[in-house]
Amino acid sequence: MALLNFTASDFRCLESVSLEVSPNYNLVFGANASGKTSLLEAISYLGRGKSMRGALTQNLVRHGREHFTLVGKAQTSSRVSTLGVQNGRDGLVVRIDGDNNRGTATLAEMLPLQAVDPEIHSLVAGGPDERRRYLDWTVFHVEHTYVDHWRRFRRALRQRNAALRAAAPPAAVRAWDQELLQSAADVTASRERAVEQLQLALLATSEELLGGEVALEYQSGWLKGKSLEESLAGSLERDRQHGTTHAGPHRADLRLVYNDRQARRLVSRGQQKLLACAMVFAAVEVVQSVIERPVLLLLDDPAAELDRESLQRLLEAVAGLGSQVIATALDPDIIQFPMAPALFHVEQGRLTPQA
Ligand SMILES: Nc1ncnc2c1ncn2[C@@H]1O[C@H](COP(=O)(O)OP(=O)(O)OP(=O)(O)O)[C@@H](O)[C@H]1O
Ligand SMILES: [Mg+2]
Repeated sequence: MALLNFTASDFRCLESVSLEVSPNYNLVFGANASGKTSLLEAISYLGRGKSMRGALTQNLVRHGREHFTLVGKAQTSSRVSTLGVQNGRDGLVVRIDGDNNRGTATLAEMLPLQAVDPEIHSLVAGGPDERRRYLDWTVFHVEHTYVDHWRRFRRALRQRNAALRAAAPPAAVRAWDQELLQSAADVTASRERAVEQLQLALLATSEELLGGEVALEYQSGWLKGKSLEESLAGSLERDRQHGTTHAGPHRADLRLVYNDRQARRLVSRGQQKLLACAMVFAAVEVVQSVIERPVLLLLDDPAAELDRESLQRLLEAVAGLGSQVIATALDPDIIQFPMAPALFHVEQGRLTPQA
């Protein structure tokens, strides 16, 4: 079990909701604009300390209020912890078991979650940022040292970019290269290991969802066949002109190949959604096998854009993961889980458990 219970106050249209979460399947249903996405976004915020799709905090606080508050009990590997997040006019506060000085990385570690929403196809069809976040979520959970590698790299990159923007002489820019190269090598090695694991899991999930194999190829963020050191040297003049570092793991991407073709060129949105789901489920599988406890899977309107057969395949794949699931639907009969879910009706931002 991941999340035991949850309360939200003044988050989007939710004035005050609270729910006891089933360890297996939960289904929240209600009409358009009743608050289904708001509820999943609130739960996701508790596990990440940030919005699912980069919404501004001021748009997440209920109109006319100063901040929102989210609290939940989560079962971690050894005990039950109380997680709390507040954000609004006075900024973000993360509170874990009464300690106000914890960061969002601790939230993510305690409540590992993945979300599938109607925009999920952008994991396949959109820009590289989302694919990097996807990959980094996996690496974060499978390698404990990854956060440190990544922070070291970000710090070196920030310093180097500051030197570039200040039009510092080339030697002052290159002074950061050693730290940049070392941390970039650590980040890259961790990501490459995770891609190998993801690839194995993805062979099965993509076959299950799309009836074909998807290959993942990690693109390091600099010129193929060259080292990062060579690429940095080669792009120094351009970096100085633009005030930013063009080569490095912050520019990495995952190339997706489906039936020998670039997957993002798959014409159908439904197929893009299935492929994105196959990727998410592969990551969930990899992470669960390492942390040895279920990930929380949020499925916002999984039926959107899928025909009945595809939705069925998707729900079967979800069932195979053994994750804790919270799904939403306009009508509860559309979603068939292998066992009866805990049912909640949502109307005008109010939640009512159904017997
Ligand atoms: N900051 C906010 N304060 C108050 N209400 C908000 C805020 N942000 C969004 N809302 C409102 O919350 C309502 C519910 O939105 P939500 O996206 O949760 O609905 P939904 O049930 O997911 O609908 P759909 O079935 O169309 O996806 C909308 O009417 C929206 O305008
Ligand atoms: Mg919605």
